[in-house]
Amino acid sequence: MSNTTKAFRGEILHFLSDPAKDNEQSYQYFEDGVLVVKDGLVETVGLASDILPTLADDVVVKQHDNGLLIPGFVDTHIHYPQTEIIGSYGEQLLEWLETYTFPTESQFGDTHFAKPRAQFFLDQLLTNGTTTALVFGTVHPESVDAFFTQAEELNVRMICGKVMMDRNAPDNLTDTAESSYEESKALIEKWHGKGRLHYAVTPRFAPTSTSEQLHKAGQLLKEYPDVFMHTHLSENKNECAWVSDLFPECENYLDVYDKHGLLSKRSVFAHGIHLCDSEYQRLSDTDSSLSYCPTSNLFLGSGLFNLKKAEEFNVDVGLGTDVGGGTSFSQLQTLNEAYKIQQLRGEKLTALKSFYLATLGGASALDLDDKIGNFTQGKEADFIVLDYKSTDLMRVRMNNTKDILERLFVLTTLGDDRTVRETYVMGDLAHDRDNKKTSAL
Ligand code: GUN
Ligand code: ZN
Repeated sequence: MSNTTKAFRGEILHFLSDPAKDNEQSYQYFEDGVLVVKDGLVETVGLASDILPTLADDVVVKQHDNGLLIPGFVDTHIHYPQTEIIGSYGEQLLEWLETYTFPTESQFGDTHFAKPRAQFFLDQLLTNGTTTALVFGTVHPESVDAFFTQAEELNVRMICGKVMMDRNAPDNLTDTAESSYEESKALIEKWHGKGRLHYAVTPRFAPTSTSEQLHKAGQLLKEYPDVFMHTHLSENKNECAWVSDLFPECENYLDVYDKHGLLSKRSVFAHGIHLCDSEYQRLSDTDSSLSYCPTSNLFLGSGLFNLKKAEEFNVDVGLGTDVGGGTSFSQLQTLNEAYKIQQLRGEKLTALKSFYLATLGGASALDLDDKIGNFTQGKEADFIVLDYKSTDLMRVRMNNTKDILERLFVLTTLGDDRTVRETYVMGDLAHDRDNKKTSAL
């Protein structure tokens, strides 16, 4: 992090609240704006005509043309060990796990295998403009060590955890209630709160944990109240039926986690497609969050997420790519599919809500909105520059837009990693599309 003041000039957009609630007051848009960053943190943002005269003579102002400067994207659910099985053919969730996921995850106990894959994964995130993510490792503590080691080097705000899984999985991928507790605890002590890193207690999902193991997960959350909790919930109908067989004493799927003390404001549940009203209500009452993973939900044929219902019950929602069940690292592509899912439900996803979900909405879902997600003073200066002319088609289509709202929508329908011109972490350039080395993996 440079201990200097820097300024970035161009078209700037960021959110102050959820546009579904506040609409006009929810965002600030400066057609010719300046973002001022001091020691890696946001100093101020506003109109160039107001801010430029206040800057000291030696402050360098970097100009960004034909693009849009926004906060870095937040991915609220992704699996780093699944990068290499993205786009695996033909199965729904439970068969997909057995056929593709478990075999690839079994290799991450080897640090030499895990390290370059963690590097590649983090590079993909930055290439796609994602500066914070909530990430699954594998059952092996080595996978998490490899991930955090690399994330620390890049100084990115990241959350990760070792999978807890003591049944219904291959022997080489299972731990025990006791070993998962001990290993998670050691990882929390080693990494949680180190630089910009956070730990997430990570039971894979109810079918692969005994009640004893879920109880141990709850114990960790009691011992370390500011760690995260990250798992899957109600993604697939066969999975839901399996959970009611395995936990007949629980009222519904969410109740399995609830009975083990796993619901809190730092709990993030991926998917939540097949929920009843009392589950939405309980998520809301406990300030827990849902991660909406559109490309995964379509690819695995899981179902159509009910965003309106989550809004109605005031449940925090963030966006997840869910690579490798999901098919893209790009939040723009994720929003493209989210729009279509809402269309299939007969609902509308506005471009403002989309960009909110990908930035401040994700930060709020992760309970990190005091640190990241927008450009209010003191926030960490993680931001990206999107290129309105990133492809010929986008350039031509952009010429046919009349305002920022239309341009935002085109970014989500036609955009992908090519659209992310630059990614900044704490005010420093971390990805430069036009001067990029090819990946080593
Ligand atoms: N449920 C349990 N494990 C997984 C996983 O790895 N991916 C998805 N999409 N759902 C899961
Ligand atoms: Zn997942």
